[in-house]
Amino acid sequence: MERHLVTGGSGFIGAALVKDLVEHGYAVRVLDDNSRGHPRRLETVSDQIEVVVGDVRDLAAVEAATEGCDVVWHLAFINGTRHFYERPDAVLDVGIKGTLNTIEASLSCGVRRYVFASTSETYNTPTHVPTSERERLMIPDVTNPRFSYGGGKIAGELMTLHYAGRRGLETVIIRPHNIYGPDMGFAHVVPEIVQRIIDLSDGLQRTQIDLPIQGDGLETRAFCYVADGASGFRIAGTQGHDGEIYHLGREEETSIRDLILGIGRVLGVQLNLVPGELREGGTKRRCPDITKLAALGYEPSYSLSRGLESTVRWYADYFREHGTDVGNGG
Ligand SMILES: NC(=O)c1ccc[n+]([C@@H]2O[C@H](COP(=O)([O-])OP(=O)(O)OC[C@H]3O[C@@H](n4cnc5c(N)ncnc54)[C@H](O)[C@@H]3O)[C@@H](O)[C@H]2O)c1
Repeated sequence: MERHLVTGGSGFIGAALVKDLVEHGYAVRVLDDNSRGHPRRLETVSDQIEVVVGDVRDLAAVEAATEGCDVVWHLAFINGTRHFYERPDAVLDVGIKGTLNTIEASLSCGVRRYVFASTSETYNTPTHVPTSERERLMIPDVTNPRFSYGGGKIAGELMTLHYAGRRGLETVIIRPHNIYGPDMGFAHVVPEIVQRIIDLSDGLQRTQIDLPIQGDGLETRAFCYVADGASGFRIAGTQGHDGEIYHLGREEETSIRDLILGIGRVLGVQLNLVPGELREGGTKRRCPDITKLAALGYEPSYSLSRGLESTVRWYADYFREHGTDVGNGG
């Protein structure tokens, strides 16, 4: 049986991927330092997998976890826009050392295939929407700490193709576009908006409120539910061709404004959106062309309203039980 190592495997997407791989008959080992991961996400498969708690910056720990594996999925990274602005040094530390260490360990342990989780952030502002994998990558302003993330991922893609690939590993790069779902942490537009609606509506007692937002909300993204994200990861990583890059997401472009109004609908609160300032570094439109992954059999099955319903309900329940004060928002 093929053995797969998933770094970042107790993270939001990692845990969903681990469960999907187990369901499809693969032996799975997880390497995560649980800085943002939660072992509870793996509870349903805990007796079927191996879990190693360790840091991808520690080469010896990565080598020990990689021993005996056929495929390495490298997902461990510091995610979340707030962290890019506030901790760019940590983002780059984990991003660069983690990628180098997982490649070195894959080479020394005889791994066959190395799968790197990149991101749509590598495009910053794409020249074409829907965007194909051939789009150019860019860092528009190297002095803006936000690009510690996109820059770290661009470096990771180069290392995957021209270091890991050049030295004999099969490689696949996946560029996910806005995967969302229950238990994705708090540094994301969906939990942030749920939290603010609950606070501003006095715990959902008021059914109509003003809601200040960043910018005018007309910027667009394509949102992909996590169950589709996990199957897309598995399909790209196991069936993708050596040296290729695959988009992962859905091809439905939604404005942030419509997303927020949709969240209000699930919560039963009518929202009057009040435009505000937009932080520098964001981009207006993003939506992937997923033709390449679809050709391998990937077909997302969750509509935005179905995925949003379960996600918003999960967060509303969470905030009801624990309160809305989540500090810095893990
Ligand atoms: N969620 C999205 O929409 C999205 C979009 C594009 C790309 N991605 C990429 O997909 C991957 C998974 O994202 P996610 O949303 O599950 O994020 P996440 O933060 O939930 O998962 C990342 C995991 O990495 C772990 N980690 C962080 N630093 C580590 C370290 N030094 N050593 C070991 N483990 C460490 C964290 O504990 C966490 O479990 C990331 O590489 C991310 O950049 C995600």
